[in-house]
Amino acid sequence: MDLKQYITIVEDWPKPGIKFKDITTLMDNGEAYKYATDQIVEYAREKKIDLVVGPEARGFIIGCPVAYSLGVGFAPVRKEGKLPRETVKVNYGLEYGKDILTIHKDAIKPGQRVLITDDLLATGGTIDATIQLVEELGGVVAGIAFLIELTYLDGRKKLDDYDILTLMQY
Ligand code: PRP
Repeated sequence: MDLKQYITIVEDWPKPGIKFKDITTLMDNGEAYKYATDQIVEYAREKKIDLVVGPEARGFIIGCPVAYSLGVGFAPVRKEGKLPRETVKVNYGLEYGKDILTIHKDAIKPGQRVLITDDLLATGGTIDATIQLVEELGGVVAGIAFLIELTYLDGRKKLDDYDILTLMQY
């Protein structure tokens, strides 16, 4: 299936000059969403994943159906102040700003093989921060899966030591 036909390019959003890749037109198509999810599930099976971890908000949309399909858990990575119990945190730089990401301290058991999921690999800042959180808790990043990779931003370079699957490249 050619998944790109389900992505809507929105010119000048959220800022002039940015061609935003809107994944909602993929998600609201049952066949396309299932196909994309199944590709990531297959990859996760090869990597023998114990747990899926994804950053808010779109990392949840990709990661939760994968976790459900594998019968493993999903641990959310959230912006500061959103998780109710003890967390570990990390500062990160976004494509258009800066923020702090957190994860519950007990979300990962040491040695667990983790799949990280998100919709988009841009600069790689979000996933680099997510990797730091997973590793701080003793998790093993066994793979990272995205719907979309913006190859011209070279995010992959930042994630050099890790195995990455991207379903679409721009
Ligand atoms: C977007 C996107 C990725 C990240 C990619 O999320 O969903 O998580 O940016 O950029 P990077 O590779 O340069 O880090 P955003 O921060 O807009 O959060 P949201 O999904 O909660 O809107």
